[in-house]
Amino acid sequence: MQQFFSQIQNLNPVATGYFRLDFHWPIDEVPRAGQFLTIRVGDVSSPLLRRPFALSAFDSSSRTASIIFQKIGKATELLSEMNPGDPIDILGPLGNSFSQKVTAMDAGKKNHIVVAGGIGTGPMLYLADELKREKKDPLLIIGCRSEHLVPYPALDNSIRTIICTDDGSAGFKGNVVDYMKSNPDPDSGTVIYSCGPKPMLMGCQNYAEETGKSSYVSLEEVMACGVGACMGCTCETTDEKKYARVCKDGPVFSGGEIKWT
Ligand SMILES: Cc1cc2nc3c(=O)[nH]c(=O)nc-3n(C[C@H](O)[C@H](O)[C@H](O)COP(=O)(O)OP(=O)(O)OC[C@H]3O[C@@H](n4cnc5c(N)ncnc54)[C@H](O)[C@@H]3O)c2cc1C
Ligand code: FES
Repeated sequence: MQQFFSQIQNLNPVATGYFRLDFHWPIDEVPRAGQFLTIRVGDVSSPLLRRPFALSAFDSSSRTASIIFQKIGKATELLSEMNPGDPIDILGPLGNSFSQKVTAMDAGKKNHIVVAGGIGTGPMLYLADELKREKKDPLLIIGCRSEHLVPYPALDNSIRTIICTDDGSAGFKGNVVDYMKSNPDPDSGTVIYSCGPKPMLMGCQNYAEETGKSSYVSLEEVMACGVGACMGCTCETTDEKKYARVCKDGPVFSGGEIKWT
């Protein structure tokens, strides 16, 4: 993990209220899918805290890293108004990656389903790309409320992708779990990875348990320090420790580690 300044290379909308930001990655440590970074936006006092964002892509030849973010409050509004060439203050890569967390047995399995929703889409696009490069032919399932939230420009045509919309305006009508249930995968050896709103993660975890599949989730809690010092991002776990820090012990967890209710 390092703090460094970078330069914005591209900043483009990918769906209503969502942007993709590409920037130069000047340090040697290569970020992996699931890891995140924190960005200080604006001057030192406003907004005060760094904001966490997951990596959505990394091109090792051009050393370009990307995030996909939703304009939701002050920091993301300021970020959406920046321009190519502008400097950004970054701390990262932070947290664990899917490749660190997934067991060797699960990594060796044949079927890999990558489920994404909302601000959890970025890290899952990167994970699908990593799995594709490992020749694992992932199935990417993206859940959105409506078609205008589907990040079409950020999608890779070479990855099998299913779009699910709540209102049926694109792809499958229903949520990602409805899709998995109505297209049963008979292979209990499948691994499901998910990142998105908590109810979606819970649905994926329950579905994985019901069908005997492995499940990994990437959690997103509101964070203060982002490096494990403040205990501001804890989640309840099922083990004897009872709590974990999402920023330091996660954000990727095995679904069974999390106490969901
Ligand atoms: C590990 C991690 C990875 C993340 N990755 C991404 C990403 O790839 N893309 C992306 O768009 N966002 C991501 N987020 C969420 C992002 O950090 C927040 O949206 C951002 O901090 C909002 O800052 P703001 O100043 O614009 O809004 P604020 O004014 O700080 O907040 C506006 C609204 O957003 C809500 N909010 C703030 N933080 C979060 C959060 N962590 N999760 C859900 N809601 C939040 C607030 O409760 C509030 O309702 C991630 C968060 C974490 C912890
Ligand atoms: S945000 Fe401080 S411990 Fe996680």
